[in-house]
Amino acid sequence: MFTVKVLTATDCRKEEERIVSLLGQLSDKRVLFAPAIEAVNVYHIGAYQGETLVGLIMSTKMVGWFGNRLYLDGVVVDVAYRRMGCLQKMIRFTEELAVSLDCYAIIFTSSRPSAIVAYRKLGYKTPTTAFRKDL
Ligand SMILES: CC(C)(COP(=O)(O)OP(=O)(O)OC[C@H]1O[C@@H](n2cnc3c(N)ncnc32)[C@H](O)[C@@H]1OP(=O)(O)O)[C@@H](O)C(=O)NCCC(=O)NCCS
Repeated sequence: MFTVKVLTATDCRKEEERIVSLLGQLSDKRVLFAPAIEAVNVYHIGAYQGETLVGLIMSTKMVGWFGNRLYLDGVVVDVAYRRMGCLQKMIRFTEELAVSLDCYAIIFTSSRPSAIVAYRKLGYKTPTTAFRKDL
């Protein structure tokens, strides 16, 4: 039902309005997407229903001494297409992408109860310790 791919810079420019609208379903904050289009080690994963972009995962490869990890941000499925397996398809695609990028894990944070349920169903676990300082 959904077609998933890594969005090229050309795709991102073409879909910029749609991407900003999808990210608007995640946060009330004004989203500035343009700087992310050419960013190094950033992979935008898009899910299409026909010609329409309906899901997005923004990911960044974090290079580390002890191995690389793929950090996910901006995970959203258009409200009209939820509970149809779109996140599942994007996550499975992202896992294959992470392996191909020589990453040993996928990491992200989430405080949304419904998303947490979905992530657990897809095999994601919460670590025992996570340190953070807001700057
Ligand atoms: C969270 C979100 C990405 C899920 O996308 P989705 O395409 O609806 O998820 P899927 O249909 O692929 O569901 C995957 C699994 O999670 C479950 N699931 C999805 N949404 C759920 C919800 N609201 N409550 C409980 N379970 C849920 C599904 O039942 C499915 O499990 P199953 O295969 O055992 O049935 C989507 O609801 C969304 O964009 N929400 C708003 C933004 C958000 O919270 N993003 C995450 C920020 S970290």
